[in-house]
Amino acid sequence: MLKHTLQDLAGKGHRGFDCSDSSLEKLAGWGAQPQQICETLQDIRLDLGDCQRCRLAEDRKNIVFGAGSPSAKLVFVGEGPGFEEDQQGEPFVGPAGQLLTKIIEAIHLRREQVYICNIVKCRPPRNRNPQPDEIKTCFQFLDRQIAAIRPDFICALGSVAAQTLLNTAVPISRLRWRFHDYKDLKLLPTYHPAYLLRNPEKKRDVWQDMKMLMKEYPYET
Ligand code: URA
Repeated sequence: MLKHTLQDLAGKGHRGFDCSDSSLEKLAGWGAQPQQICETLQDIRLDLGDCQRCRLAEDRKNIVFGAGSPSAKLVFVGEGPGFEEDQQGEPFVGPAGQLLTKIIEAIHLRREQVYICNIVKCRPPRNRNPQPDEIKTCFQFLDRQIAAIRPDFICALGSVAAQTLLNTAVPISRLRWRFHDYKDLKLLPTYHPAYLLRNPEKKRDVWQDMKMLMKEYPYET
Protein backbone atom coordinates (compact mmCIF):
# COMPACT_ATOMS: atom_id res chain seq x y z
CA MET A 1 0.00 0.00 0.00
CA LEU A 2 2.81 2.36 0.97
CA LYS A 3 4.53 1.60 -2.31
CA HIS A 4 1.38 2.49 -4.29
CA THR A 5 0.89 5.66 -2.25
CA LEU A 6 4.47 6.80 -2.93
CA GLN A 7 4.15 6.00 -6.63
CA ASP A 8 0.83 7.83 -6.79
CA LEU A 9 2.21 10.90 -5.03
CA ALA A 10 5.26 10.93 -7.29
CA GLY A 11 2.96 10.45 -10.32
CA LYS A 12 0.91 13.46 -9.23
CA GLY A 13 4.04 15.60 -9.24
CA HIS A 14 4.94 15.58 -5.53
CA ARG A 15 8.70 15.50 -5.13
CA GLY A 16 10.99 14.36 -2.33
CA PHE A 17 10.04 10.66 -2.20
CA ASP A 18 12.55 7.96 -2.88
CA CYS A 19 10.81 5.93 -5.60
CA SER A 20 13.92 4.12 -6.82
CA ASP A 21 13.37 0.51 -7.86
CA SER A 22 15.45 -0.80 -4.95
CA SER A 23 13.51 1.21 -2.35
CA LEU A 24 10.17 0.21 -3.86
CA GLU A 25 11.25 -3.41 -3.85
CA LYS A 26 12.12 -3.17 -0.17
CA LEU A 27 8.77 -1.55 0.58
CA ALA A 28 6.92 -4.25 -1.38
CA GLY A 29 8.28 -6.78 1.11
CA TRP A 30 6.99 -4.90 4.14
CA GLY A 31 3.57 -6.11 5.10
CA ALA A 32 3.08 -7.81 1.73
CA GLN A 33 1.35 -10.77 3.30
CA PRO A 34 -1.20 -8.87 5.41
CA GLN A 35 -2.14 -6.83 2.33
CA GLN A 36 -2.68 -9.97 0.28
CA ILE A 37 -4.78 -11.52 3.01
CA CYS A 38 -6.82 -8.44 3.87
CA GLU A 39 -7.38 -6.45 0.72
CA THR A 40 -10.74 -7.01 -0.99
CA LEU A 41 -11.87 -6.08 -4.49
CA GLN A 42 -13.98 -3.35 -2.90
CA ASP A 43 -10.91 -1.88 -1.18
CA ILE A 44 -9.07 -1.84 -4.48
CA ARG A 45 -12.02 -0.22 -6.27
CA LEU A 46 -12.17 2.44 -3.56
CA ASP A 47 -8.45 3.12 -3.91
CA LEU A 48 -8.86 3.44 -7.69
CA GLY A 49 -11.52 6.10 -7.05
CA ASP A 50 -12.23 8.53 -9.88
CA CYS A 51 -8.80 7.71 -11.29
CA GLN A 52 -6.92 10.54 -13.00
CA ARG A 53 -3.53 8.79 -12.95
CA CYS A 54 -3.10 8.71 -16.74
CA ARG A 55 -4.40 10.37 -19.91
CA LEU A 56 -7.02 7.67 -20.49
CA ALA A 57 -9.13 9.44 -17.86
CA GLU A 58 -9.68 12.35 -20.26
CA ASP A 59 -12.00 10.59 -22.72
CA ARG A 60 -13.50 7.76 -20.73
CA LYS A 61 -17.13 7.69 -19.73
CA ASN A 62 -16.80 4.93 -17.12
CA ILE A 63 -13.99 3.11 -15.37
CA VAL A 64 -14.34 -0.60 -16.16
CA PHE A 65 -12.98 -2.22 -13.02
CA GLY A 66 -13.97 -5.86 -13.54
CA ALA A 67 -16.91 -8.17 -12.94
CA GLY A 68 -17.64 -11.64 -11.72
CA SER A 69 -16.99 -13.81 -8.72
CA PRO A 70 -14.59 -12.44 -6.07
CA SER A 71 -13.58 -16.04 -5.37
CA ALA A 72 -13.28 -17.15 -9.00
CA LYS A 73 -10.89 -19.97 -9.80
CA LEU A 74 -10.43 -18.55 -13.27
CA VAL A 75 -9.76 -14.92 -14.21
CA PHE A 76 -9.96 -13.72 -17.81
CA VAL A 77 -7.81 -10.70 -18.56
CA GLY A 78 -8.43 -8.65 -21.71
CA GLU A 79 -6.70 -5.59 -23.07
CA GLY A 80 -8.92 -2.63 -22.26
CA PRO A 81 -12.54 -1.53 -22.51
CA GLY A 82 -14.06 -0.87 -25.93
CA PHE A 83 -16.96 1.44 -26.79
CA GLU A 84 -19.74 -0.65 -25.24
CA GLU A 85 -17.73 -1.41 -22.12
CA ASP A 86 -16.96 2.29 -21.65
CA GLN A 87 -20.66 3.12 -22.03
CA GLN A 88 -21.80 0.48 -19.55
CA GLY A 89 -18.86 0.31 -17.13
CA GLU A 90 -18.75 -3.49 -17.53
CA PRO A 91 -16.04 -5.61 -19.15
CA PHE A 92 -16.63 -7.61 -22.33
CA VAL A 93 -20.25 -6.65 -23.03
CA GLY A 94 -19.82 -5.76 -26.73
CA PRO A 95 -19.48 -8.20 -29.67
CA ALA A 96 -16.15 -9.60 -28.40
CA GLY A 97 -17.78 -10.03 -25.00
CA GLN A 98 -20.63 -12.05 -26.47
CA LEU A 99 -18.07 -14.39 -28.00
CA LEU A 100 -16.23 -14.58 -24.67
CA THR A 101 -19.51 -15.57 -22.99
CA LYS A 102 -19.85 -18.42 -25.53
CA ILE A 103 -16.28 -19.53 -24.81
CA ILE A 104 -16.97 -19.53 -21.06
CA GLU A 105 -20.14 -21.55 -21.54
CA ALA A 106 -18.31 -23.97 -23.87
CA ILE A 107 -16.00 -24.83 -20.96
CA HIS A 108 -19.06 -25.50 -18.77
CA LEU A 109 -18.87 -22.34 -16.68
CA ARG A 110 -21.03 -19.26 -16.36
CA ARG A 111 -19.84 -15.65 -16.46
CA GLU A 112 -20.80 -15.22 -12.79
CA GLN A 113 -18.42 -18.04 -11.82
CA VAL A 114 -15.33 -16.45 -13.35
CA TYR A 115 -13.85 -12.97 -13.01
CA ILE A 116 -13.35 -10.76 -16.07
CA CYS A 117 -11.14 -7.70 -16.18
CA ASN A 118 -8.60 -5.88 -18.31
CA ILE A 119 -5.01 -4.68 -18.36
CA VAL A 120 -6.20 -1.04 -18.39
CA LYS A 121 -9.45 0.11 -16.78
CA CYS A 122 -10.30 2.96 -19.15
CA ARG A 123 -11.01 2.86 -22.89
CA PRO A 124 -8.08 3.92 -25.06
CA PRO A 125 -9.31 6.50 -27.61
CA ARG A 126 -10.47 4.97 -30.92
CA ASN A 127 -9.70 1.54 -29.42
CA ARG A 128 -5.96 1.96 -29.94
CA ASN A 129 -3.65 -0.32 -27.95
CA PRO A 130 -2.90 0.91 -24.44
CA GLN A 131 0.52 2.56 -24.33
CA PRO A 132 3.34 1.29 -22.10
CA ASP A 133 3.07 4.18 -19.61
CA GLU A 134 -0.71 3.69 -19.33
CA ILE A 135 -0.21 -0.03 -18.72
CA LYS A 136 2.49 0.67 -16.14
CA THR A 137 0.27 3.11 -14.25
CA CYS A 138 -2.76 0.80 -14.24
CA PHE A 139 -1.04 -2.53 -13.71
CA GLN A 140 -0.89 -2.34 -9.89
CA PHE A 141 -4.70 -2.52 -9.78
CA LEU A 142 -4.88 -5.70 -11.85
CA ASP A 143 -2.07 -7.23 -9.83
CA ARG A 144 -3.94 -6.45 -6.61
CA GLN A 145 -7.24 -7.77 -8.04
CA ILE A 146 -5.53 -11.07 -8.83
CA ALA A 147 -3.98 -11.16 -5.34
CA ALA A 148 -7.42 -10.50 -3.76
CA ILE A 149 -9.20 -13.19 -5.82
CA ARG A 150 -6.39 -15.75 -5.63
CA PRO A 151 -7.62 -17.80 -8.63
CA ASP A 152 -6.01 -21.03 -9.80
CA PHE A 153 -5.83 -19.88 -13.42
CA ILE A 154 -5.52 -16.75 -15.47
CA CYS A 155 -6.52 -16.81 -19.11
CA ALA A 156 -4.78 -13.93 -20.88
CA LEU A 157 -6.82 -12.84 -23.90
CA GLY A 158 -4.61 -11.55 -26.70
CA SER A 159 -1.11 -10.27 -27.00
CA VAL A 160 -1.40 -7.15 -24.81
CA ALA A 161 -2.65 -9.17 -21.83
CA ALA A 162 -0.27 -12.10 -22.34
CA GLN A 163 2.81 -9.99 -23.03
CA THR A 164 2.11 -7.65 -20.11
CA LEU A 165 1.49 -10.39 -17.57
CA LEU A 166 4.45 -12.47 -18.76
CA ASN A 167 6.69 -9.43 -19.29
CA THR A 168 7.72 -10.59 -22.74
CA ALA A 169 7.56 -9.48 -26.37
CA VAL A 170 7.07 -13.03 -27.68
CA PRO A 171 4.06 -13.10 -30.04
CA ILE A 172 0.80 -14.59 -28.78
CA SER A 173 0.96 -17.29 -31.48
CA ARG A 174 4.05 -18.65 -29.71
CA LEU A 175 2.84 -18.09 -26.15
CA ARG A 176 -0.51 -19.86 -26.50
CA TRP A 177 -1.23 -23.57 -26.13
CA ARG A 178 0.73 -24.01 -22.92
CA PHE A 179 0.58 -22.91 -19.32
CA HIS A 180 3.05 -20.33 -18.02
CA ASP A 181 3.80 -19.33 -14.44
CA TYR A 182 2.44 -16.03 -13.18
CA LYS A 183 3.63 -15.89 -9.57
CA ASP A 184 2.07 -19.04 -8.09
CA LEU A 185 -0.72 -19.25 -10.68
CA LYS A 186 -1.03 -20.97 -14.02
CA LEU A 187 -1.46 -18.56 -16.89
CA LEU A 188 -2.83 -19.68 -20.23
CA PRO A 189 -2.53 -17.22 -23.12
CA THR A 190 -4.96 -17.49 -26.00
CA TYR A 191 -6.25 -15.33 -28.83
CA HIS A 192 -8.48 -12.35 -28.02
CA PRO A 193 -12.18 -12.82 -28.92
CA ALA A 194 -12.06 -9.62 -31.04
CA TYR A 195 -9.28 -11.24 -33.08
CA LEU A 196 -11.47 -14.32 -33.48
CA LEU A 197 -14.28 -12.17 -34.85
CA ARG A 198 -11.88 -11.01 -37.58
CA ASN A 199 -10.20 -14.42 -38.02
CA PRO A 200 -12.83 -17.09 -37.34
CA GLU A 201 -10.47 -19.85 -38.52
CA LYS A 202 -8.49 -19.26 -35.29
CA LYS A 203 -11.42 -20.42 -33.15
CA ARG A 204 -10.08 -23.94 -33.54
CA ASP A 205 -6.84 -22.88 -31.77
CA VAL A 206 -8.73 -21.26 -28.92
CA TRP A 207 -10.77 -24.43 -28.50
CA GLN A 208 -7.49 -26.39 -28.23
CA ASP A 209 -6.39 -23.99 -25.48
CA MET A 210 -9.73 -24.27 -23.70
CA LYS A 211 -9.54 -28.06 -23.75
CA MET A 212 -6.19 -27.83 -21.94
CA LEU A 213 -7.79 -25.56 -19.37
CA MET A 214 -10.75 -27.91 -18.89
CA LYS A 215 -8.39 -30.81 -18.17
CA GLU A 216 -6.87 -28.89 -15.26
CA TYR A 217 -9.85 -26.87 -13.98
CA PRO A 218 -11.16 -28.09 -10.62
CA TYR A 219 -14.82 -28.58 -11.57
CA GLU A 220 -17.08 -29.39 -8.68
CA THR A 221 -18.59 -32.85 -9.11
N1 URA B 1 -11.87 -5.98 -25.38
C1 URA B 1 -11.15 -6.06 -24.25
O1 URA B 1 -9.95 -6.32 -24.29
N2 URA B 1 -11.77 -5.85 -23.10
C2 URA B 1 -13.06 -5.57 -22.99
O2 URA B 1 -13.55 -5.41 -21.88
C3 URA B 1 -13.79 -5.52 -24.20
C4 URA B 1 -13.18 -5.71 -25.37
